[in-house]
Amino acid sequence: MKATAKAHTNIALIKYWGKRNDALILPTNNSLSVTLDGFYTETTVEYDKALTKDEFILDGQEITGVAYERVTEYLNLIRKYGQLGNLFARVNSTNAVPTAAGFASSASGFAALAAAATKAAKIEVSDVELSKLTRQGSGSACRSIYGGFVEWEKGNKEDGSDSYAVAIEPQEHWDIRVAAVVLNETEKEISSRVGMKRTVETSEFYDGWLSGIPADLTEIKAGIKEKDFNRVGAVAEANCLKMHATTLGAKPPFTYWTDATMRVMQTVQNLRKKDIPAYFTIDAGPNVKVLYQPENEAIVEQTLRETTDVSDVILSRVGAGISYL
Ligand code: DP6
Repeated sequence: MKATAKAHTNIALIKYWGKRNDALILPTNNSLSVTLDGFYTETTVEYDKALTKDEFILDGQEITGVAYERVTEYLNLIRKYGQLGNLFARVNSTNAVPTAAGFASSASGFAALAAAATKAAKIEVSDVELSKLTRQGSGSACRSIYGGFVEWEKGNKEDGSDSYAVAIEPQEHWDIRVAAVVLNETEKEISSRVGMKRTVETSEFYDGWLSGIPADLTEIKAGIKEKDFNRVGAVAEANCLKMHATTLGAKPPFTYWTDATMRVMQTVQNLRKKDIPAYFTIDAGPNVKVLYQPENEAIVEQTLRETTDVSDVILSRVGAGISYL
């Protein structure tokens, strides 16, 4: 009873920011992402009757503590779903997601874990079912089931049965690129989970965030369909700014940005002044991701690398969905 799955991470162009149910991981708003080929996790799950508890090895190291708890609790969910009783597993993961790049490795991590854990147990799941299961590990991970452009439908039901991701356009639809800009001193102080909870509960700006989502979604979906880069970039950047604005209205207020974050944002805006279309987006941390078109790759990479406090720039294309190895 063994299987290996590979999942890519994704970057949200319309952000998931807030839960209506913490336990089931049900979001307050739809989100939309692009899957990235440069960042992925490969996970092997092997169930073994001889084990008395789960084992988790990540990049060759045995993991204990909070990260282990999250994996074993997730496997409890799969065991319950597949009626596997007390069948424990050996989980071996490798991350091709430089943690310093500020990409949620939890997105590719939970997608690969859900896929390998169901496959190894011979549990037949549709993509929708797999997305729902993955969502319960980490919300943004439910979008990594598919390649290309993906929307997570928030759903309205209390039990979460209508909250899952759907493919909008496949990987081949459109060759846009994403540069992950790695900054010096990237210690993340407030996790996305904690940050979004504080924002939902206390931010005066949270209602404003929610009220803008439907229009942003309509706009970005039209832009993706028509491959209108400026339209997609503009709405993605604006949506990111609105998400981050909610943190300033929280009690106590906080921000994920550092001075280096803002310098990179300015670099991107200056590229546009020189008629090079590039747009930024930022998740729950200081690092910046930059959207650009293939023909501008050299100038975008060089300009980002020349920005003060940028330690690395990692380029990525649109990636594929889950695969089994
Ligand atoms: C800012 O998916 O990491 O990256 O569901 O609590 O595990 P949990 O949160 P997570 O949050 C991601 C938030 C974000 C925006 C996004 O990816 O949509």
